[in-house]
Amino acid sequence: MAQPLTIEDLRLLAKRRVPRMFYDYADSGAWTEGTYRANETDFAGIKLRQRVAVDMTNRTLESTMVGQTVAMPVALAPTGLTGMQHADGEILAAKAAAKAGVPFTLSTMSICSIEDVANHTGSPFWFQLYVMKDRDFIARLIQRAKTAGCSALVLTLDLQVLGQRHKDIRNGLSAPPKPTLANLINLAFKPRWCLKMLDTPRRGFGNIVGHVSGVADMSSLSSWTASQFDPALSWDDVKWIKDQWGGKLIIKGILDPEDAELAAQSGADALIVSNHGGRQLDGALSSIAALPAIVDQVGNRIEVLFDGGIRSGQDVIKALALGAHGTFIGRAFLYGLGAMGEKGVTLALDIIRKELDITMALCGLRDVKDVDQRILLGGREEAVRRLSL
Ligand code: GLV
Repeated sequence: MAQPLTIEDLRLLAKRRVPRMFYDYADSGAWTEGTYRANETDFAGIKLRQRVAVDMTNRTLESTMVGQTVAMPVALAPTGLTGMQHADGEILAAKAAAKAGVPFTLSTMSICSIEDVANHTGSPFWFQLYVMKDRDFIARLIQRAKTAGCSALVLTLDLQVLGQRHKDIRNGLSAPPKPTLANLINLAFKPRWCLKMLDTPRRGFGNIVGHVSGVADMSSLSSWTASQFDPALSWDDVKWIKDQWGGKLIIKGILDPEDAELAAQSGADALIVSNHGGRQLDGALSSIAALPAIVDQVGNRIEVLFDGGIRSGQDVIKALALGAHGTFIGRAFLYGLGAMGEKGVTLALDIIRKELDITMALCGLRDVKDVDQRILLGGREEAVRRLSL
């Protein structure tokens, strides 16, 4: 393929280069994948307002997320098994994010460990936490994130139990892959991936393996979540985690105004409007359709961040116009990683930055912090009307 110009170009390249079970893991939603698809398609219904003959010089995308300066309001979302899209994936993505001046969020279910990422990158990153029944392990994990200098904790609340993704079951997803005939045949067509993977020791769940005992199959995300994640998680646990952590806290997985209210009351610094990339409750609203009511509910009492379906800078600006203070990209960077390693993540961020910059200019604005409903055709009301069709 010639120089990739869009996130879709990177997706197609990743599909060619990444072993099927890991490509499918990224590119899948729960059950019918209806919510996963809606996350992307709902953006298309929102129309922007073109302005002309306004001064478009000296533009800036600089903003803040939980008080930290960011080169653009786009962070890398926590994604499980990132180091299976490409060898050492988390380290490479963290490096690309640091160079681009945006936050990288390391998942609990990463391949490279917290310590590994900290040792290989200069800038502080964010750590995403899943709550497991073993609270001693959680306390230790939080302590490890503190010791590694993580500058925010992203607490995920929407995965107490795992939404079923059919492809993962059919593919027998595991990290590392099991040497079945089907896997060996598929790997034979992915020589770049294999060569890099043979060259790294990082092939299991780095934050978990060696830190917990008594789990039968640590290579399997589904058996790990079924046996370890805490289905009894409550807002009291959120308080306990907030106290343990003592730093910037971001609550991820809010889709309903009532839960947004509880998040605001919890004293967290930010919430992320998210349906886990359509990977949990199939049939839930798309993230962008859920955003306006949540902004209405919490106002300025808690910073509202957004993820779900962003594949372009135009999507970013639409989320900002509907009241998000910042955004996250998950699959968009994973496709870059799978396609071209660190260079691919840099390219994904470049693509989105350029699209965001030019789109902002064509909407007649020079500062991303000024983006609001004025750039939407028919304003917020029309966008909300279209999103509820
Ligand atoms: C979480 O780790 C997921 O697979 O969505």
